[in-house]
Amino acid sequence: MVNSPAMGSAESHPYSPTDPPIPQRPARQLKPQVDSALAAPRLQRSIALLLSHLVVAVVALVAIGGATRVMEAGLACPDWPLCYGTLLPGRQMNLQVFLEWFHRLDAFVVGVALLVTAVLSLLRRAELPSWFPAAAVLSLVLVATQAGLGALTVTQLLAAPLVTAHLGAALLLGALLSAAQVALAGASMANSRPPLWWRAVVLLAFLGVFGQCLLGGAMASQWAADRCLELGEACRWLAVHRSFATPAALLLAAATLPPLVIPGWSGLVRGLALTALLLVLLQITLGVATLRLQLAVPLVTVAHQIVAALLVSVLAAAAAADLKPQPNPVHA
Ligand code: HEM
Repeated sequence: MVNSPAMGSAESHPYSPTDPPIPQRPARQLKPQVDSALAAPRLQRSIALLLSHLVVAVVALVAIGGATRVMEAGLACPDWPLCYGTLLPGRQMNLQVFLEWFHRLDAFVVGVALLVTAVLSLLRRAELPSWFPAAAVLSLVLVATQAGLGALTVTQLLAAPLVTAHLGAALLLGALLSAAQVALAGASMANSRPPLWWRAVVLLAFLGVFGQCLLGGAMASQWAADRCLELGEACRWLAVHRSFATPAALLLAAATLPPLVIPGWSGLVRGLALTALLLVLLQITLGVATLRLQLAVPLVTVAHQIVAALLVSVLAAAAAADLKPQPNPVHA
């Protein structure tokens, strides 16, 4: 019997260079490792890109919602979730039905995208920063709440507190997605990190502007400004909204001026600060113009709502900008 090399006997045939090469265990493949190392940033980048589109979609949602209110189209689709019992109400379609129907369609697309993001972030959480799955699930909860509030605004015939809560939830969703986008996009590559006191001031400015938005929403959903201008009724809302604009704008100036006047801040923070400062000036101009025009130009009234949504999102992004990078479990 001939001993085979596999039997490992000392008497087995010694290996000669003319023999065919002994099969060896293949060298450990490096490629999969390299791939998985790259996969995390790639996944992060893809999700950050998706989030930037979703921020635009949420601002559009707020804009269409504002146009829906201004055009008195809030009940143009009398049922929910369908519109006249169908997915596409072709026969009833006019500008008002289109606004309400398109508002729901945009909300549906945002909801599906957030569901996919949340599921993906849970399944591949090892490749993402540890805070991200919680943020993704929270945004899913917010969009579900938003849809519920949207349904209630229709079934409760546009009750003012529901309309205001609906606007508030949309603004919070935009802010959360915007902050998550900036934190995920790797903006944290900057060498200089903003001091903690500055983040606290940005957060205060965010709360001030958000509170001002809720006041504006509460006023608008009761048609208080119209009633004040036409009938001299409910003018308290307008007075409060106008007075609160000053502290909100001052808080915002306190948050945005340091990066603009003190040297050494990252380009991202300076850019966000400048954008927020310009937006608040535009917002005040639009508010004054809305009144001067006696609320008669829908485009100006809707622009006031769009700029409010942008302002909240930009402030949220500033609060999350240049955070300390978190080591990713895949790389650790
Ligand atoms: C930081 C500054 C401000 C913010 C963030 C803000 C935000 C808002 C928001 C979110 C709304 C609700 C819009 C809607 O639901 O259609 C609103 C309504 C309104 N705002 Fe402001 N606002 C600001 C400053 C001002 C100023 C300075 C004025 C005027 C002097 C003004 C006048 C109005 C008016 C008249 C409405 C009611 C529009 C309507 O009933 O259709 N706002 N504001």
